Amino acid sequence: MTTSRRQPLRILLRRPAIERRVRELAREISADFRGQHVHLVAVLKGAFVFLSDLVREMEAETSLDFISVSSYGTGRETSGRVRLLKDLDSSIEGLNVVLVEDIVDTGMTAHYLKNILKPRNPRALKLATLLDKPSRRIVKGVKPDYVGFKIPNEFVVGYGMDYGERYRGLRNICILRFPTD
Ligand code: IMP
Repeated sequence: MTTSRRQPLRILLRRPAIERRVRELAREISADFRGQHVHLVAVLKGAFVFLSDLVREMEAETSLDFISVSSYGTGRETSGRVRLLKDLDSSIEGLNVVLVEDIVDTGMTAHYLKNILKPRNPRALKLATLLDKPSRRIVKGVKPDYVGFKIPNEFVVGYGMDYGERYRGLRNICILRFPTD
């Protein structure tokens, strides 16, 4: 991790509001699957805090897996290429899978993941994202099934999300401003 100059942060979403919304999402997902088992697949690393709060609020019985992709490198602009860094540990055939993302931005990550997971024959394949930046969407067909908050076109950090591996541990979700903005 670099120890570059501190950048100014402005709070966008506070922890209590995030907690309330995550509880609602967990209720919504559990209700949609009506008592069936739900397999939550978190996209590393950004979704790890969201997943840990979500899974504890789920009424449905759950199991977990993790998948890791890279599209951003260490900056704030996507490279436009998604690479698989870590695949799932186990088969998803016949499972009710909910992909858990921190942010859907251009939609390339979600599109890529749906394309590699669909042929593995899950019973259902849904997408839950804490944040959605619809104005940034490049892959138009990507429409998350569960959205915590729609946010404007700002770069955000905290609650698991980073800029060059910094800020993941912040309790609130903050806008990171750059000198050139
Ligand atoms: P997409 O493929 O462009 O939809 O980007 C998805 C991934 O990019 C997210 O899962 C995040 O890891 C990262 N990302 C997109 N926007 C932001 C942001 O504002 N802050 C931190 N990471 C972001």
